[in-house]
Amino acid sequence: MKLFLDSANLKELSEAASWGAIDGVTTNPSLIAKENREFVPLIKEICRLINGPISVETVSRDAEGMVKEGRVFAGLHPNFVVKCPLTKDGLKATRQLAGDGIRVNVTLCFSASQALLAAKAGAYIVSPFVGRLDDLSQEGMALIRQIKTIYQNYRFPTQILVASVRHPLHVVDAAMIGADIATLPFSVLEALVKHPLTDAGLERFLKDWEKLPAQAKELGLGGGASPSAGPGSAGASQAARSSSISHTVS
Ligand code: E4P
Repeated sequence: MKLFLDSANLKELSEAASWGAIDGVTTNPSLIAKENREFVPLIKEICRLINGPISVETVSRDAEGMVKEGRVFAGLHPNFVVKCPLTKDGLKATRQLAGDGIRVNVTLCFSASQALLAAKAGAYIVSPFVGRLDDLSQEGMALIRQIKTIYQNYRFPTQILVASVRHPLHVVDAAMIGADIATLPFSVLEALVKHPLTDAGLERFLKDWEKLPAQAKELGLGGGASPSAGPGSAGASQAARSSSISHTVS
């Protein structure tokens, strides 16, 4: 399953990119507005940070306006995927843009019937919002299972992007169901890394390591220092340096 970052924040995007975990980006008008920066330079900077599909949302309500905006986005960078809402006009725009070879992410999908129509219109991606359904006491993941079955039944190539992800379990469930993509806020990506047993285990390893005599802790990094060197020698100072980088050893 591909992981996208659901963010227009350059700091978050560059941190996530450095972990090697991010395959693409989704934005929406709310996320862009939060950054309080000029729109086009911001989305171009996102392209420089992440080499993958970057969804940018149209803001017109009519199909003609969406198609116009979509063509502009597609002309700015080949990685841009045009987001259109799951309305009648959004479907019309999807059909036209897809006909021009422009990739469309049909967003704000809340039902299996909507997802069926998005696929028929030629969507590259459909974005069902699981968290917003959960908020209304409807099981968001049940919708992902339905869409997966429908797309498999008829071999629709439209990719299922699980959106409105709120916690790590959404990500695990999406992967178990076989969704193509999950898009995560940075806070959820960070939560995926964490486990209290990892922290406790590391703490214990490093405490035990400190019990070793200085000479035995020699890692042999930097070259030259002899493991048998006495206190105050080059070997001892090498050991002291090694202990300061011992957090990389477990
Ligand atoms: C992604 O494309 C959506 O815009 C996003 O996941 C919406 O998430 P929210 O429901 O947390 O706003």
